[in-house]
Amino acid sequence: MDFNVPMDHGRIVDDTRIRQAVPTIKALRERQARVILLTHLGRPDGNVDESARTSPLAARLSELLEVPVGHAGDCIGPEVEAEVAALGDAEVLMLENVRFHRGETRNDPEFAAQLARLADVFVNDAFGTAHRAHASTVGVAAHLPAVAGLLLEREIVTLGRIMRDPPHPLVAIIGGSKISTKMGVLRSLLGRVDRLCIAGAMACTLFAARGMAMGHSLVEEDQLETARSFLAEAEGRNRAPFLPLDAVVAAEAKPGVEVQTVDIKAVPPESKVLDVGPMTVEQFLRACDGAAAVVWNGPLGVYEIPPFDQGTHALAQGLAGSDAQTIIGGGDLVAALQELGIVDRMSFVSTGGGATLEFLEGKTLPGIAALKDAGDVVHA
Ligand code: ADP
Ligand code: 3PG
Ligand code: MG
Repeated sequence: MDFNVPMDHGRIVDDTRIRQAVPTIKALRERQARVILLTHLGRPDGNVDESARTSPLAARLSELLEVPVGHAGDCIGPEVEAEVAALGDAEVLMLENVRFHRGETRNDPEFAAQLARLADVFVNDAFGTAHRAHASTVGVAAHLPAVAGLLLEREIVTLGRIMRDPPHPLVAIIGGSKISTKMGVLRSLLGRVDRLCIAGAMACTLFAARGMAMGHSLVEEDQLETARSFLAEAEGRNRAPFLPLDAVVAAEAKPGVEVQTVDIKAVPPESKVLDVGPMTVEQFLRACDGAAAVVWNGPLGVYEIPPFDQGTHALAQGLAGSDAQTIIGGGDLVAALQELGIVDRMSFVSTGGGATLEFLEGKTLPGIAALKDAGDVVHA
């Protein structure tokens, strides 16, 4: 499982990843399987970290399943083996955070063998961790019959269709902070989409690459050359991106700060672009008119600080009312739509952060490649 959910002082902030895995666990229980759950939580780096224990996850899952979920104090060793041996049919046991052991991220073969000893079959439902070649994603698959869970399957089918057999017209909307982290996905999507919209701070870097003044906005100076070559490539393919027409600017991204909506060509020198304006949202929605599918990754503005969440909100509202299949990805965008209470109105919400980006870049995810029949789904 990828139950790596955001936590705040032992409290689960967003249980989406747990809820999305429930169908797999139910399907296994219906078949009388004894279900042993393994996940990481945070990055404890091989140390026991009290704040990263999986017991709150077991408690939440128990509420969702409406059955008791046991919790083991470790994920390997004789005590865990005894607890597993004592499980009855259809019972569920959650193991302790797999990253309390250094062998996890190192994909240590002995550690993987110890994990594998607990089970007869390995069901990987951890799409969000599929881009990591760790013991619990890749190592165990060498020891056991290894198959995809229902969540993983849904991700592969939905995102895989975009990669292999995209519906047309296909529109992609990419926002977020750094173009450097999204260049791979932009280049990959460029060859698949009919229309591409770019916003967020990434658009500021593109505008700066064209020599436009962006005030104190977040511009990646070391990406200007890359940005120029990307724009040239896009224009060469007749896919020049739709970029913001207007922007919401302020001196700082702070609550209560004075804001202005300006033409993108008139960003005041002392201010920062922190969101898109209404003309941009309208333009992006027009680009989505008649689309078969819209893939959206990354928020359009600094959604964490209102009112800079308004562009993201307005676009989401518009898309919720459209006939297009809406495919949402990216940790921050999903969190933004969650906060705005609009996430349920999208057709598909990916549980992956980095994994979704790497999948859409066309990379082979090691966690998927390690599964039986992976050849049918690895698209790259
Ligand atoms: P995702 O996780 O959805 O893929 P990213 O991690 O790429 O998205 O980007 C999310 C971050 O981008 C958010 O923290 C948001 O505040 C920031 N961001 C969006 N627009 C801007 C902007 N104009 N200036 C600065 N930061 C921005
Ligand atoms: C995620 O939240 O993206 C996954 O759970 C992977 O976590 P990681 O970046 O710590 O490997
Ligand atoms: Mg992010």
